[in-house]
Amino acid sequence: SDAKNLLFLPGDGIGPEVMGQVRKIIEWLTKNRSVNFNLSEGLVGGACYEAHKCAVTDETVQDAMDADAVMLGAVGGPQWDNVERHARPEAGLLRLRKEMDLFANLRPAVVFDALVDSSTLKNEIVQGLDIMILRELTSGVYFGEPRGVEDLPGGGQKGFDTQVYTDAEIIRAAHVAFDLAKKRGGKVHSVEKANVMESGKFWREVVTKLHAEQYSDIKLEHMYADNCAMQLVRNPKQFDVILTDNLFGDLLSDCAAMLTGSLGMLPSASLSGKDENGKVRAMYEPVHGSAPDIAGQDLANPLATILSFSMCLRYSFNMAAEADLLDQGVQNVLGAGVRTGDIMQDGMKAIGCAAMGDALIAELDKLV
Ligand code: NAD
Ligand code: IPM
Ligand code: MN
Repeated sequence: SDAKNLLFLPGDGIGPEVMGQVRKIIEWLTKNRSVNFNLSEGLVGGACYEAHKCAVTDETVQDAMDADAVMLGAVGGPQWDNVERHARPEAGLLRLRKEMDLFANLRPAVVFDALVDSSTLKNEIVQGLDIMILRELTSGVYFGEPRGVEDLPGGGQKGFDTQVYTDAEIIRAAHVAFDLAKKRGGKVHSVEKANVMESGKFWREVVTKLHAEQYSDIKLEHMYADNCAMQLVRNPKQFDVILTDNLFGDLLSDCAAMLTGSLGMLPSASLSGKDENGKVRAMYEPVHGSAPDIAGQDLANPLATILSFSMCLRYSFNMAAEADLLDQGVQNVLGAGVRTGDIMQDGMKAIGCAAMGDALIAELDKLV
């Protein structure tokens, strides 16, 4: 089949370390399955700032638009905390999401059986957990105008951001959530703060109308975001698909990550709608960040990034068999008690990031 054009953006901190393990899997797939990848690599985040004094270049944005899919590691770090906002590492990631129009951010939180004891919650609360957070990714307070810091007439200053959602933005995200629910447990929780925010009240009205018109076979519940955070740790298995905005989705997905044992386990896919040629732009990245506290020490858990690559195989490359293989490999590695430090349990020995990648390759060798 045609070679898939895959753009690698390793970024900062543990980004290059975890992406290095995906590279091993790509080599393995190339050797052991008849698949071909056209791999290219670019700079994003602090890595790009050091070379070009910006968080991502126009060329890299164009490469990302043209690629069949983008794999991103992580961006950011304390050394760039005082860089002006438009050139900060995070701005590179936000620009890619916005220009690629990746409004649908899928953040699945799945508890592997072998990791039930790694969760900070009781076994019975998390065992078998499988939820999907659909986070709107290109609007809301992350991008709303006006924003800034200004002097007040009477002295003092104010800092401000704006939460804005159009009906079209809510509708396209809600379509994705309802369609996901159709193939899953048939239930959507739409999460906002309609009790406090005008945009939240509007969100609820728009979702309610779309549901009544097109998805009445799906169970829809509305929930306030603060309650949702609480319910996620009280009884997470009540959820199937959570539909929420950019900021609440950021918070709730970190929270959901911890149910699975570690932030180092949570993958994500960010997708656009279909363009005029039927192409869906896509970027895959772990939910975690650059983890400056453990960067450069071969301590990071690469599984979130590896599972993100599995989503890439499944959603962008139409390689469900290879994605299944990879998911099974991860399950087996965990089942065999192979652990990085973040998911370690009593009596187990923690191994490094590279060794986890190697252990997975060895497991894949056994599976074919
Ligand atoms: P973080 O996700 O980088 O780290 C939070 C904690 O989780 C740390 O203790 C870290 O060691 C641990 N952790 C994260 N990933 C891990 C992994 N794979 N294996 C083991 N442990 C892991 O969040 P933070 O510390 O708040 O942010 C650090 C930097 O990363 C900031 O500059 C932030 O803006 C950036 N960030 C980037 C992304 C991204 O690129 N998508 C996401 C979140 C944060
Ligand atoms: C995430 C991150 C990003 C976000 C930052 C790094 C811009 O926290 O992907 O969850 O806030 O969306
Ligand atoms: Mn986040």
